[in-house]
Amino acid sequence: MPAVAEFEATARERLDPAHYDYFAGGAQEEITLRENEEAYKRLRLIPRVLRGSDKRDLSVELLGTPSSMPILVAPTAFHRLAHPDGELATARAAARAGTIMIVSMASTTAIEDIAAAAREVTPDPGLWFQLYLQPDLEFTEAIVRRAENAGVKAFVVTVDSPVLGRRERDDRNAFHDLPAGLFVENLRNIGENRSGGNTSHVREIVMSAGLNWDHIAWLRSKTKLPVLIKGVLHAEDARLAVHHGVAGVVVSNHGGRQLDTVPATIDVLPEIAAAVGGAVPVLLDGGIRRGTDVVKALALGADAVGVGRPVVWGLAAGGREGVSAVLDLLRADFDQALALCGGRHPADLTPDQVRR
Ligand code: FNR
Repeated sequence: MPAVAEFEATARERLDPAHYDYFAGGAQEEITLRENEEAYKRLRLIPRVLRGSDKRDLSVELLGTPSSMPILVAPTAFHRLAHPDGELATARAAARAGTIMIVSMASTTAIEDIAAAAREVTPDPGLWFQLYLQPDLEFTEAIVRRAENAGVKAFVVTVDSPVLGRRERDDRNAFHDLPAGLFVENLRNIGENRSGGNTSHVREIVMSAGLNWDHIAWLRSKTKLPVLIKGVLHAEDARLAVHHGVAGVVVSNHGGRQLDTVPATIDVLPEIAAAVGGAVPVLLDGGIRRGTDVVKALALGADAVGVGRPVVWGLAAGGREGVSAVLDLLRADFDQALALCGGRHPADLTPDQVRR
């Protein structure tokens, strides 16, 4: 079975170079982008012996949403840049894999249509919705209602983007707007005709450096669904998140696309897991490319991991089948690594099995 890198190579051949750079790139010197992957290569695994099982169970349940494996689809924008079927293909593949897809607010397909595509595959798909809280809270609430009505099961608020990171590849390519015909469909004004195709009806995503814990409390007051925050790197923020009633924490540096020179997520995971102390689930994304990466993250305290670019590469390489192939590959690779580590379930992995 090919590795994630081979899907990336195929995607690179197929994509417009500016679009490839948009997906592949990171902020500024891309130090964090590289570090996310490199950090895994510095960690060594210590297997346990004579305690595994031929019957392994990779499934987990996260905040009431079952997942067939602890590998989720991280939220990434603009899937129709990667493949004409866009998020519909991703959603069908995630549903077929029985895993959770965290739909980006910046999807190029409306959440209602994504949910309908997933429901063609499975009656009760595990869809979560990623939010950039908009300063216009009324508008934000309208998006929350839309996502709830579409059937999402949790909200993931991205908190690492007070301003947009500086992506120098995009600057060089002058890639700053979606091509004609593609829109951030979830930001079409509520009540407008969704098939209208008039840009004036689609709002831009606004990043706000003025967001604070009160906005998280506001969102919690507006929805009964679990609210996670994504983009935590400081242990004190993880403690504050638990204090403020957040349902889960995603350790993420946005795939190296926001603040450059922050550490690899795997390197801060132990301190965040310690700060959270099991009070809420801890998820992690960034640089996961192999089953051993998943094993290391789970051993060091993550309940599940997210994959961003690997899914995009699968999508660009082969649409729904490509995403399915990537998810199947990661599942098989993780299952094998788990078996080699002497585990039968993700929870069997422990911090003493990872050595620096
Ligand atoms: C992202 N990411 C992201 N995160 C988010 O909260 N909302 C979004 O719209 C996007 N969009 C997005 C686009 C692209 C092209 C990439 C590569 C990433 C970040 C994403 O959720 C995740 O944190 C990283 O992708 C994880 O790193 P890997 O798996 O790509 O290494």
